[in-house]
Amino acid sequence: MKFFADTAKIEEIRELAATGLLDGVTTNPSLIHKSGRNFLEVVQEIAQLVPGPVSAEVVALDFDEMMREAEILRRIGGNIAIKVPLTPAGLKACKALTGEGTMVNVTLCFSAAQALLAAKAGATFISPFVGRHDDVAFDGMALIADIRLIYDNYDFPTEILVASVRHPMHVVEAARIGADVMTAPPKIIHQLFKHPLTDAGVASFLKDWQATGQKI
Ligand code: G3P
Repeated sequence: MKFFADTAKIEEIRELAATGLLDGVTTNPSLIHKSGRNFLEVVQEIAQLVPGPVSAEVVALDFDEMMREAEILRRIGGNIAIKVPLTPAGLKACKALTGEGTMVNVTLCFSAAQALLAAKAGATFISPFVGRHDDVAFDGMALIADIRLIYDNYDFPTEILVASVRHPMHVVEAARIGADVMTAPPKIIHQLFKHPLTDAGVASFLKDWQATGQKI
């Protein structure tokens, strides 16, 4: 499973990149707003920091403007994945862009039917939002399982990128289902390391080691 950081905050990305466990970054207009940074500048900085796919989202709603914005974004670097919404114009742009060899991340997916359309449009990644599905009493993980089944039925190469991850169990459950990628806020990625028994075990080993009076 690939791990993407869902943030536009450079220091958070730098810290995670140093672990060697970071495979990419996803941004969206809300995360850019939270960063307080200029969109093109911060995406350029991220794309230089992380060799993996860096998702940058168009904000236009019509095809022609989406393509104009995508042209500006993909010039930033070869690792830029253009994020488009799951709308008719978004999927038309997806097909055009992937046809030209540009990675596309189709976002705001909330149904298996939408995911099927995105795969047919040649999406590189599909981003089903599990947390927002859970928020309205739908089972976000059931959606991931549905998409996995459908994609495997037809050998679609589109990678399932689980988004709107709210806690570590979203990551574990997505991995059990066989999602290709998960993107999460760095805080949640750091939470994956945590277990009280690990902390207690390290403390206990160190206490006993110190009692030996030895050094390595
Ligand atoms: O990548 C999508 C993600 O940023 C949305 O997360 O928690 O706002 O649903 P959330």
